[in-house]
Order: sequence, then structure tokens, then C-alpha cells
Amino acid sequence: MSIISITGGQWGDEGKGKIVDHLSANVDIVARYQGGANAGHTVYVKDRKIILHQVPSGILRDDCHCILGNGMVIDPVSLVEEINMLRQNGISVEGRIHIANTAHIVTPVHRAIDRASETNTAQKIGTTSRGIGPTYVDKYNRRGIRGHNLTDSDKLEEMVKKRLEDAITHGELYDLSAEDIEHEFPKFLECAKSISPMVTDTFKFMQGKLEVGANILIEGAQGTLLDIDHGTYPFVTSSNCSVGGIANGLGIPITAIDRRIGIFKAYTTRVGEGPFPTELFDETGSQLQETGGEFGATTGRPRRCGWFDGTLAGYSSRINGFTEIALTKLDVLDELDEIKICTAYEVDGQRTKHFSEVLHRLAEVTPIYESIPGWCEPTTDIEHFDELPARAERFIRILSDIMETPIKFVSTGPEREQLISR
Ligand code: GDP
Ligand code: IMO
Ligand code: MG
Repeated sequence: MSIISITGGQWGDEGKGKIVDHLSANVDIVARYQGGANAGHTVYVKDRKIILHQVPSGILRDDCHCILGNGMVIDPVSLVEEINMLRQNGISVEGRIHIANTAHIVTPVHRAIDRASETNTAQKIGTTSRGIGPTYVDKYNRRGIRGHNLTDSDKLEEMVKKRLEDAITHGELYDLSAEDIEHEFPKFLECAKSISPMVTDTFKFMQGKLEVGANILIEGAQGTLLDIDHGTYPFVTSSNCSVGGIANGLGIPITAIDRRIGIFKAYTTRVGEGPFPTELFDETGSQLQETGGEFGATTGRPRRCGWFDGTLAGYSSRINGFTEIALTKLDVLDELDEIKICTAYEVDGQRTKHFSEVLHRLAEVTPIYESIPGWCEPTTDIEHFDELPARAERFIRILSDIMETPIKFVSTGPEREQLISR
């Protein structure tokens, strides 16, 4: 029996899907603990590109059960679309998707509120418009709709209609048409009904499997700097993406997790608004974006790109207590003559390595870089650590020292096989 967690170390899109896919070959269960359809996890299987939003990446491995945990916010319409996409790709989902009966449900009203509040605010977050924030607001306001409500269609219809009335009363829709939202109800109710047989007591299900020695892989969405508590608030998502969220989002105590793997890109990206100290606005930034194919898997938005931020990564590593790191997209740096690593920030004429000290004023910091020569040779087909160019090895060692955590995996391409481990 083993429990391993996969958590994003930066601002999301670190390549979690690929690493989960690799590690799920020998597990019985892959479980998501937070977020919802805002996630976009890309996995390549035999030349086919599959993007998963709510279903854990373990679905691509036969016999692997997938848990959508209680900490998630589930969108029935988007989930049905995703299941159809999987079926079209010949992936059988029958009896393999289990939705927590206490997970919260995203309705067309929540999606509309998300859109309306982004359009009508002076401080845009750049959300994915998937209704994530408004659904978590209702959860914490103790008026959410939960998984178990999907099994009673009449009650569910009553609840979603009431939520629409409340949204109108409280001006949450601004100038959006209530009729347009109401038109989405039949499809919502139909999708809710179709996924309702998947709703179950996922806690009991997982405990039962653990008792007979099952291996569980826990899949995080987003990344530590998007965490509602530890991230770059207010430019964050509305859940605890860091390791701390696992205990609440699945009912698995942190002490039961044997390995906590942090996923970091060899550089940094961010989608949406918010401060980004190492962001590049020059040709190198464009090169990273182009070579790395940095366009959002959920919204298609271009991802902002910049150098690896060690100040941020050191903080993230400590917040999560990572036992090991998977470094992804090393190949994207293959052609660069010079590579920079941010090792500290300067603010008010003072240097600091403490990210938390400046978290509330990140837009004011200037990154201090260590510059190293690039390796200028392809890494994509390398299969063993000791075959990596010496300069790439040095880069990896510097990052590992900054994060005070061993780098056990290096990913050198999007394909399943393009992964070196030790
Ligand atoms: P996630 O949200 O953390 O699962 O990451 P995304 O799927 O949103 O974004 C990661 C992108 O990088 C996807 O397009 C992956 O196919 C791709 N990718 C993952 N690992 C590597 C790698 O090592 N090298 C390259 N070039 N691409 C990678
Ligand atoms: P994965 O799991 C990158 C960002 C949005 C926005 C902020 C809040 O693929 O790594 P939300 O819709 O969650 O209320 O948006 O969070 N964001 C992500 N950025 N990867 C993600 O997921 C993200 N999910 C949300 O762009 O800035
Ligand atoms: Mg993604």
C-alpha cells in the first residue's frame, strides 16, 4: 500500500497530467482533491492528445478507479462532455468514476456569476469563467448544492431555480439575461441525472481499498501560488491547491502520504492576471512561449513566460513539504545560450530570499538572477540522468539546492516516454 501525491509547485500547468499519467501505471486509484473544470491536464497517449479537466488522469490506465473528491467543485455539463470525449477516444469509463457525495456542484448560475463579476470589476482576476469561485463562495456560505443532491432531479431543479432567483435579487448577474441562464437548466438537469449514478461515499470506497493494500495517487490541480491561502492573493483560485488541501479535500490525513511530489517547470509561466517577478517581455519570453507551446489547455489563452523563480520555488517547497521534485520541460531550454535563475528579490534597497515577506507586494520586487551558460544540445531522447549534458546537470543541481529537495524526475518532452527518473 502506498499513497503518493502530485502537486503543482508554481502557478499551474507544470505538467502534472503527464507525471500523473506516468505514475498511474501501477496504482488502483487516482483521486483529485480540489478545483474543478478550471484545470486542464494534458496527456499524450500514442500520438493522441487528451486534455482532462475534471476526471483524474488515471482514467487513461485500464482498471484504475478515479475519485472526484469532496474538495472539488463538479460541473455536470462539462463532466458529461469530458466523458463523451473519453468514450470517443476508446476509453471505457464504466464503473470507474466516483464522485464524492459531499463535493459541491457548479450550476449555470455559478458560471454566469463568474462571467458577470469578471466583466464588472475594476480588478480582474482573469478567471477561467468556469464558475469555480462562486461555487466555493456558496460552499463557505453554507448554501451549496452537493453531490447527493444530483440523485433527486425535482429537488435539484428547485434548488437551481432558487439560486437563480437569489442571484437576480442580489444583483449578482449584473446585465446578464436571467432567461438565457434559465435556458441552460434542461441540459444541466439532464447531465446531472446522467452522472448521478457515479455519486457515492468516496471516503468509504477509498478506505475499503486501502484496507486491502491499494495504491493511491493523489492529483492536484492548479499550483501552490494559486492557493487561496498561500498564493498571490487575490490573483489565485478559490481552493487549497497545495498539499494541505489533500486532508480536507479527500479525507486522507497528510501523515498517511508516503511521497509528496512537487511538479515544477524548468522556467515559470502564469495564465491570467497578477504579479510575476521573473516575467520576460523580450524575445526570450516569446521563445519560451513558442518552444514550450505555452497556451492554456482550458481557455487557450497565451501563458505569460519567465525565468525559473527560486525564491518562489523555495517557499513552495516548504509550504508543501515535498519529498521529491519532478522537473518538467527541460527540453524547452535546450537552445538557450544563457539561462537565468532568480535566487532573491530586491525591494526598498534590501535583498530578501523570503517569498512570504513580500507576497503582499510582489509587484514591487526586482528579481536578482544567477546566470549560467546553456547546454545548447537536445535533451529529448535522453533516457538516463548520467547522460544529461554537464551544464543541464548543473542547472538541475542548483534548482534542487534552492528547493532543498531531490529532483527525482526530469521530463524532456510531452510524450509518456520522455521522462528520466532516478
Ligand atoms: P498541467 O495542468 O500541470 O497538467 O499541465 P498542462 O497540461 O496544462 O500544461 C503542460 C503542457 O506541457 C502540456 O501541453 C504538456 O503536453 C506539455 N509538457 C509536459 N511535460 C513536458 C516536457 O517535459 N516538455 C515539453 N516540451 N512539453 C511538456
Ligand atoms: P491546471 O490544473 C493555470 C488561474 C486562472 C486565474 C486564476 C483564477 O491546469 O494547472 P479560476 O477560474 O480558478 O477562478 O481562476 O487561476 N487558473 C489556472 N492557471 N492552470 C490551471 O489549472 C488553472 N486554474 C485556474 O487563469 O488566473
Ligand atoms: Mg493545465
